[in-house]
Formats: sequence, structure tokens, C-alpha cells
Amino acid sequence: MQKSSNEGRLPKRRLLIVFGTRPEGLKCFPVASAALAHEAFHTEICVTAQHRDMLDQIISLTGLPVHYDLDIMRPGQTLFDVSERVLKGMESVLEHARPDIVMVQGDTTTAMAAALAAFYKRIPVAHIEAGLRSHNIDSPFPEELNRKIIGDIAKWHFAPTAEARNNLLAEGKPADSILVTGNTVIDTLLHFSGMLDNDDLMSAEMAARFSFIDVSKKLVLVTGHRRENFDGGIERICKALKVLAARGDVSIVFPVHPNPNVRNVVRAELADIPNVHLIDPQEYLPFLYLQKKSYLVLTDSGGVQEEAPSLGKPVLVMRENTERPEGVAAGTARLVGTDVDVILRTATNLLDDESAYRNMAERHNPYGDGKASQRILEELSHA
Ligand code: UD1
Ligand code: UDP
Repeated sequence: MQKSSNEGRLPKRRLLIVFGTRPEGLKCFPVASAALAHEAFHTEICVTAQHRDMLDQIISLTGLPVHYDLDIMRPGQTLFDVSERVLKGMESVLEHARPDIVMVQGDTTTAMAAALAAFYKRIPVAHIEAGLRSHNIDSPFPEELNRKIIGDIAKWHFAPTAEARNNLLAEGKPADSILVTGNTVIDTLLHFSGMLDNDDLMSAEMAARFSFIDVSKKLVLVTGHRRENFDGGIERICKALKVLAARGDVSIVFPVHPNPNVRNVVRAELADIPNVHLIDPQEYLPFLYLQKKSYLVLTDSGGVQEEAPSLGKPVLVMRENTERPEGVAAGTARLVGTDVDVILRTATNLLDDESAYRNMAERHNPYGDGKASQRILEELSHA
């Protein structure tokens, strides 16, 4: 008997990937683009647009299709606004899309509320970048709790590192529900980093875009946006930058997050300071270019903490703790908090002491090998 072409094949699984902010967009991109091309899945993408312009930059860079857009961002939104709008918005998306699997990434309120919505509809959740823990519910706030809630809901935990897996095991998650995949941030990084390295025209474009940077000085790249740093932390970071800038041998470039709690403070403290360039949030490729050109990175960002070690750039983490201890253990990242003196002392040491710098600037890749997306889809295709 002649076999029909579909015989022996499982029906396509309906996969709904939900994301809302810049880092989720960047980290979902490699999984989403591979899933869209994978025969085991019927893939749709829902953006909550918790971020609007910063997310649209990612959509335009990656060319990902958007099947549902909740368009929830409002200026100065609160955690209540985001939670409520995502949860309610997901109700009708889930009714319409009828997914077999809802996939979320990381620890944002979008990811938490979308997972909760899937739980209310009894749809299994796959969690990318599962298991990171600071073990302090107040920091990162509210991300530590968001990630734990998603962890309690998820059926599949895609842990980026062995340490993340151990955190999940310690919480009693079944071993066979956890897969160590590496972090998809590295899949994204390798994809676009290759583009920058191999395209002379693009490199020339980037150099022209940043022609205001004095290349004879050491480039210090800064980002900051954590909510637990709103209560004076951002201000102290700015005070440290002001002193650092006065050295004269550094060029400080600070793409300022559009959150008004960040933007207003940074502008008030650092506008018109020589050697400090306050610029808009950069698209991913220019930001990657800046990371590659930097001497030192100062940040409280999760994603940048993961990218810098892979690029061999020392990173000072301006937080009291981190749920990404692998970079610190590898020696490329150092926790400096937001104390002005500690930031200054550590940065000055790296700027002045060549061997201290070299010790930190070893290229390490604790976060993955660029194949995380492949492993995630392979696992789900047999689920
Ligand atoms: C959010 C996430 C945080 C993540 C960060 C990445 C939560 C609670 N917070 O923090 O985990 O690390 O994104 O950047 O999920 N805004 C714009 N345009 C944009 C994006 C934001 O103008 O494209 C402004 C708006 O005024 C908005 C505000 O920033 O209301 C805050 O955005 P929100 O997503 O609530 O918080 P983030 O600080 O960006
Ligand atoms: N990033 C970017 N443009 C910028 C600053 C950061 O594209 O101006 C990228 C960065 O390379 C990383 C991600 O955004 O991949 C990190 O996002 P963010 O710091 O907003 O969030 P977090 O990672 O802390 O959740």
C-alpha cells in the first residue's frame, strides 16, 4: 500500500512565542526564526510591546513576523499597568491562536503575565533562560519573583547553564523537565557579530555614525535601567562617571534607557559634561559595535553582562548581586554595586593597570556555544 505523505508524521505543534521588551526580542529571535522554518511547528509570534520603539528596532532588524501585537506600552507605565494589560490581552490571543505550547523568555513582567495567562488556559509553557536566581526577592526587582513564578508554571525549563539547572533542581523541579541549552543571547550575538566583522561597508557606516567618539581615548560604555537602582543608584552611578570623565583619557558613551526614572536623572546629572556622550538607545548592531570598540563596560543590564564576557570586555556590574554569577566566576565581570568610590576605584585600576586589565579581558564564554535555539527546538519537537 502506498503511504500517504503525512503518514508517520506528528501533526504540527502550534507554538506561540510571546515577548515584549528589547532583551526578550533579541533572545527570542534565534528560536523564533528557527521555529518558523521548522516542519514540526506551526509558529506564531505575539508581541506585548511592553517596549515599543526599542522592540520595533528588533523586529525591523530581524524581520520576524508579528501575528499579534497587544501594543500595551504607555509612557511611565507601572508594574500594575504592564501586568494587567498583558494578562488581559493574552486572554483573547490564546483563544484565537489556540497554541499547544506557549514560549516565554527570561524574567520580565511580559514573560510572567503571559505564562500566567497560559496557565489559566491550561496551556503548557516552555521557558527559555530558566533557573537564574539571585536568591533575593528584592533584587533584581521584580524580575527575581517573575522568574520564579514562570519556573513554577513551566513544563519545559531551558536552562542556560549548569548553575541555573542546579537552582531548578534545588527547588524540586523534575530533572527530566530541565535541559541545559546555553543562552540564546549567544546565538544572536554570533549571528550579528559575524555580520559586523565581515561587512566592510557596515563597519564603515558604524565608524561614521560614531565619529564623535575620540578614538585616541579609552571607550567606556555605560548602560543602566534596573528598578532597584532608581532609589539613588542611578544618581550615584552618574556622580562616579562625572569624576571618571575628568581624567581626560576616557570617552564615556552612555545610551540612555528611555524609562523616565533613568532618563531624567541622567540628563540632569550628565548633560554637557566633557567626555560624556549621552545618546539614545542604540539599535542592536550599533550597540554591538560599541561593545566591540569599548575598553570597559559599566552596566546593570542582564544581557550586557552575558555579552561582554563573550567579547572579552571587562564588565563592572553596577548592582549589589547578580543572578548571572558565571561571568564573575570566569573573571570577566566584577560586582561593584552603586557606591561612587567602589565604582571609581575599580574602573581607575582597570584604566591604569595594564596587567589587572589583561587578567579581566580574557575572552570567556560561560553562557553558550550558539546552539541553544537548536537544542530547544529539538527537545520540543519530540515533546
Ligand atoms: C523592562 C523590564 C526589565 C528589563 C528591561 C529591559 C519589567 C518589570 N521590566 O524594564 O526586566 O530588564 O525592560 O530594558 O518587565 N520606554 C519607552 N520606549 C520603549 C521602552 C520603554 O519610552 O521602547 C519608557 C516608557 O516610558 C515606559 C518606561 O520606559 O513606560 C518603562 O518601561 P518598562 O518596560 O515598564 O520598564 P523597563 O525599565 O524598560
Ligand atoms: N542593547 C541594545 N542597545 C542599547 C543597549 C543595549 O541593543 O542601546 C542590547 C544589548 O546588546 C543586550 C540587550 O539590549 O542584548 C540588553 O537589554 P537591556 O539592558 O535593556 O535589558 P536586560 O538584559 O537587563 O533585561
